[in-house]
Amino acid sequence: MTSTAESGRAAGGAARTAGARDPLLTVDGLTVRYGRASQPAVNDVSFSLRPGDRVGLVGESGSGKSTLAAAVLRLLPASASVTGTVDLDGHPLTELKPSELRSLRSTRMSRVPQDPLGNLNPVFTVGRQMSDVLSAHQSLGRKERTARVEEALHRVGIGDAAVKRRSYPHELSGGMRQRVMIAMALLNHPDLLIADEPTTALDVTVQAQVVELLRERVAEAGMTLLLISHDVGVVSELCTTVMVMYGGEIVEKGAASDVLTRPTHPYTRSLIAAARGRVPGDGDDPTERVT
Ligand SMILES: Nc1ncnc2c1ncn2[C@@H]1O[C@H](COP(=O)(O)OP(=O)(O)O)[C@@H](O)[C@H]1O
Ligand SMILES: [Mg+2]
Repeated sequence: MTSTAESGRAAGGAARTAGARDPLLTVDGLTVRYGRASQPAVNDVSFSLRPGDRVGLVGESGSGKSTLAAAVLRLLPASASVTGTVDLDGHPLTELKPSELRSLRSTRMSRVPQDPLGNLNPVFTVGRQMSDVLSAHQSLGRKERTARVEEALHRVGIGDAAVKRRSYPHELSGGMRQRVMIAMALLNHPDLLIADEPTTALDVTVQAQVVELLRERVAEAGMTLLLISHDVGVVSELCTTVMVMYGGEIVEKGAASDVLTRPTHPYTRSLIAAARGRVPGDGDDPTERVT
């Protein structure tokens, strides 16, 4: 555990006592087990994110990436048992009340999920759902909320925001729904954005647009990014640091330029070879850029 994590808690949940380069998020010895599963889904994971870090978490399906994200956000199902700690600004999240956690999930750290349709309510318009996210954390009049919603939609590249905000989720394309999720995640200006496979469900061309959008928004706000993906190309576009997860553990961690060009763990090598569309072999040029 870092000295930041041990430095005690400030008065008031939102108080920010940490310096600019002190960790924003510190995960220490995190282990998650579902029900009576023999193997933990996340096994003794430790890392920290400093403000402005852009970290990619890569790994094959089932390696524990989403479980790790859910554990950080304290959104795990009741069947999951957790040991280890997650601190935000050195304050343990376990000590927060449910209402404080709900507020923090929008204003300090928020999530872009893999499956927008499953995370939007089918019976309300997207504008209404965004408006609800705003009013849960700030007291704003209806007109102001509408203006903020339209502005947020605009900023994720939705030009006809006044029309689109009146749409129901099923009336929008997959790419448009993911833009809405990104707009929603950014509504309350979080410091940390956790994007769990944000482009996986999208067509390749739309994927590129959403990656570009995330890059712009993250850079503009100076946000800290934890990007989960099994796509090393997307990670190399957006992240400066990479962590590789395998079997619930982080098996490799380092600068993206090193990990993605000179992987040391056998699993990382095969992941990168798969991204290049071939199996790893002696002919691999370790300096070749991953695209
Ligand atoms: N709600 C759940 N209940 C039981 N097991 C789960 C649940 N969610 C995930 N798992 C299991 O935990 C492991 C990690 O899954 P997950 O975190 O979804 O991996 P990833 O996001 O890397 O694909 C897998 O073995 C998966 O089957
Ligand atoms: Mg997942």
